[in-house]
Amino acid sequence: MTWWQPGVLYQIYPRSFADSNGDGIGDLDGITARLDHLRGAPGSLGVDAIWISPFFRSPGADFGYDVSDYTDIDPVYGDPASFDRLLAGAHQRGLRVLLDLIPGHTSVEHPWFRAGRSSRTDPHRRLYIWADPAPDGGPPNGWTSTFGGSAWEWDEGSGQYYLHSFYPEQPDLDWREPAVHERMGEVVRFWLERGVDGFRVDAIDRSMKDPLLRENPPASSTERRFDDFRGQYHLWNKDRPEVLDVVRSVRRAAERVKPGSLLLGESYIPIERLARYLGDRPGDAFDLVFDFPFLSSDWEAGSLRQAVEAAEAHFPPSGWPCRALSNHDNPRHATRFGRGALRAAAMLSLTLRGTPVLYMGEEIGMADVPGPEGKALDRAGRDAARTPMQWRNEPGAGFTSGEPWLRIGDSARVNVADQAADRDSLLSLYRRLIAERAASPALASGSYRGLDTAPQTGVFAYLRESGTERLLIAIECGGRAGSHDLLAAARGRLPAQGTLRLSTAPDRTAGERIDLSAVPLASDEGLIIAI
Ligand code: GLC
Repeated sequence: MTWWQPGVLYQIYPRSFADSNGDGIGDLDGITARLDHLRGAPGSLGVDAIWISPFFRSPGADFGYDVSDYTDIDPVYGDPASFDRLLAGAHQRGLRVLLDLIPGHTSVEHPWFRAGRSSRTDPHRRLYIWADPAPDGGPPNGWTSTFGGSAWEWDEGSGQYYLHSFYPEQPDLDWREPAVHERMGEVVRFWLERGVDGFRVDAIDRSMKDPLLRENPPASSTERRFDDFRGQYHLWNKDRPEVLDVVRSVRRAAERVKPGSLLLGESYIPIERLARYLGDRPGDAFDLVFDFPFLSSDWEAGSLRQAVEAAEAHFPPSGWPCRALSNHDNPRHATRFGRGALRAAAMLSLTLRGTPVLYMGEEIGMADVPGPEGKALDRAGRDAARTPMQWRNEPGAGFTSGEPWLRIGDSARVNVADQAADRDSLLSLYRRLIAERAASPALASGSYRGLDTAPQTGVFAYLRESGTERLLIAIECGGRAGSHDLLAAARGRLPAQGTLRLSTAPDRTAGERIDLSAVPLASDEGLIIAI
């Protein structure tokens, strides 16, 4: 068993976690000062690792996902010494640290791109994807970028177009070029030698494109999940078979320095194709890949179960699911599901088979905070899910003493300090669930089996088993309060009664005997029952 299989990961968007110098933007010293929230102190959440979104030198066109120096810290976030303090503070607490590796593109300001752009004969030019105009002078083909418009940008100086899968400020690297493997391998080496424990690997499915630049077909009338966007089916510039070579290249680079480093891939593709990125055996490619079909599910028992069981069905026997309910690119689940669902959603996320990734602020129920009309900072509309962490009920929310870079949510009602002092709060429930998971072999690493419930509505129920420990989890997803027969599909194989271990409802006490043929569940209630 690896450390990350039973583990819980926690995503920090560094711009919004904690600001130590009053400039309104979060920074590395801010994170260090808040590590007690995460692990190693009385009342910590108890997570096992943090993934920190990029803090490398960057002009900030995509808030750090446009890197101009992969091995330097952007002055907004600190300096190498502040990174070392953060790493040491985390490791002292037994908290591992994952960085964000962005292999697919650099910033236009990266010296490699600037050099390559300066002349067609500069050796750096081949690190990127350049092409001549079409006969009419327009872009080489019709590929569209994720954020809209053509994926090609004209470079007047050198008379060619360059490819960008995201913003025009993010030129795509050409992974068919061996020098790209070498240079990215050096980045991996640099940070692993510095002491990090692995990487979340960004947008991996865009790292290879059709060398013939074939045209994408139009988007289909019946939407192809994740592959139809911006008017086309991204057949030739996304999730090409050769992407696995890129994953293996990153894997080899990591193994050379620190065998067993965790590699967690990001790719918005259907689950049956995602499984491929886990490779043929453990340690061959990614260890984990985000299950985005799960993140995209509604708060609805049937669709959640379907997403969970698709991963169970498609992953190789050695594969291990990885799920998040929120991240910095999508509306928060407090907003998508509604606040009423948050306690049960926490139980779901922390009791499924697989590694959960929590997004900072979800543990206190932070919801999207829309910015002022016409003042969007992120051109792709993701500001609302990235607002500052709400630490305390005070101006600046304990996040900053200055003017926050994004509007802060309702910190009077939702904040860490108040919830830490309240044993019935969402934060206290997260702590309890994480502790429960760490202490339970069934939750941490046991098998999963979905159960058909009667009536067939509203409840997602499953068994987690390991050795003699058997747990039945029942999650009511926004339906009606009622009584449910959890034995319906398993009569004879399950005992008639169980013992309540934990409910999301603060007024139900552990130890209560529960008749499994008539389990009373309130709307949006979750139960862990020992059987
Ligand atoms: C990933 C990141 C997202 C970024 C994009 C381009 O999807 O999560 O924030 O904009 O890659 O790097």
